[in-house]
Amino acid sequence: MKHKVTFLPQNATVEVESGETILEAALTADIELEHNCGGNCCCTTCHVIVREGEAHLSALEEEETDRLEECAELAATSRLGCQVKIRGDVMIEIPERDPFRLDGLDELENFGEELLRPD
Ligand code: FES
Repeated sequence: MKHKVTFLPQNATVEVESGETILEAALTADIELEHNCGGNCCCTTCHVIVREGEAHLSALEEEETDRLEECAELAATSRLGCQVKIRGDVMIEIPERDPFRLDGLDELENFGEELLRPD
């Protein structure tokens, strides 16, 4: 079964199979949605705000909730595009990002430093 996903501010609509993520839908539609950790719930660069159809999305899991708390532009209907699965028609806003904010990258950098640091 296919569902319509409309992305704002582009106002572009794409049809996707049930169960695909918002990130997958964005990539299908050639919509730029950052995904610095590769869709592994380790950053917040895929943050989106659900404008319509919240009930047509998979439920928030604990891991996604924890990660969303790190998101600077958190809204009542914020989700991580790589974690949320589409079950019906939805309208999704991709919020504008502060180009100077690292958005989870510092955590990844620290992880790399730990690997390099001798005990
Ligand atoms: S791409 Fe990193 S949390 Fe979604």
